[in-house]
Amino acid sequence: MIRSRITGTGSYAPEKVLTNLDLEKMVETSDEWIRERTGIRERRIAGQEQTTSDMAYEASRRALDASGIKAKDIDLIIVATVTPDMPTPSAACILQHKLGAKRAAAFDINAACSGFIYGLSVADSFIRGGSYKKVLVVGSETLSKITDWEDRTTCVLFGDGAGAVILEPTEGNNAILSTHLHTDGSMWELIHMPAGGSRNPASEKTIKKRLHYIKMKGNEIFKVAVRTLEDIVIETIKANGLKPSDITLLIPHQANLRIIQATAKRLDLPMDRVVVNLDRYGNTSAASIPIALDEAVRQKRIRKGDIILLEAFGGGLTWASALIRWPL
Ligand code: ACO
Repeated sequence: MIRSRITGTGSYAPEKVLTNLDLEKMVETSDEWIRERTGIRERRIAGQEQTTSDMAYEASRRALDASGIKAKDIDLIIVATVTPDMPTPSAACILQHKLGAKRAAAFDINAACSGFIYGLSVADSFIRGGSYKKVLVVGSETLSKITDWEDRTTCVLFGDGAGAVILEPTEGNNAILSTHLHTDGSMWELIHMPAGGSRNPASEKTIKKRLHYIKMKGNEIFKVAVRTLEDIVIETIKANGLKPSDITLLIPHQANLRIIQATAKRLDLPMDRVVVNLDRYGNTSAASIPIALDEAVRQKRIRKGDIILLEAFGGGLTWASALIRWPL
């Protein structure tokens, strides 16, 4: 049976650091409020000229180096993002050109914060089906460019960055074991960017009304996120005939420390078996899981045979999980 395994990881975060103390000077907020309600201390902010595909390139180069494969050998590139360089072409096409990955088909996936796991699931299906053998999956976001820096309810949350993995086929059991994707479009309005699409094309009016920024009803999402993530982690473990205690490491989407702690509690996992880096990066949407995964790999927190559970929740609303038996 053919499955897919991760053969390399990479990540990138822009140099500029924006701390909670910096934000205190920009909006009516406090370091204490942000830390207590979210767990975030600082986040990275892309340069004015820096794009999602630029950051995706840096993360992808590192993943390629780690896996030992060449860009020209990639068959498929999937970029998960809600902040492509422009509405069209996709960030994946621009990344394909920057990498010189001439053989690769390339497309973007928009599933907000769940985007990386959605991308991983699509890549896994292509590999299991035999269509592709070397797939690059990237999560890259420049959320700072669609953040309203006058809205304290959102601007304290988001950050920029990118993470990438290379997937290749294996006949062994150390591979992606399963992926689980869910959507409830009835709650789409809870996180959305109102303008710039066919409903509200860009105009002087949409700019004046600040409609090109993310709007989020955070406290309504919070409750749905806790409930659905608790459900999906149990669904994933059961689908594989495992028990919560079989999980070596949980790598959650990094939106809010309280959401992460609730999921860990449902699994009865101590926090030292949970990867948390949102204190340093904030919520980087589709980039958060591949950045956390890459850091865990480089810190040697993951060993061959470990069972790794990825889970995410985001705009759409979407939520997703993946269970991996670690191959390296
Ligand atoms: N500084 C100070 N006070 C603030 C701030 C701020 N930055 N932001 C809001 N407040 C105030 C509110 O106005 C409110 O005041 P009031 O009680 O006088 O009305 C009070 O703090 C409490 O606000 P809540 O929104 O109820 O705070 P909550 O504890 O829910 O925390 C948060 C807000 C951090 C957004 C939380 O709800 C959350 O993390 N939600 C989930 C977000 C998420 O997972 N999103 C999905 C992924 S994002 C994506 O897909 C791109």
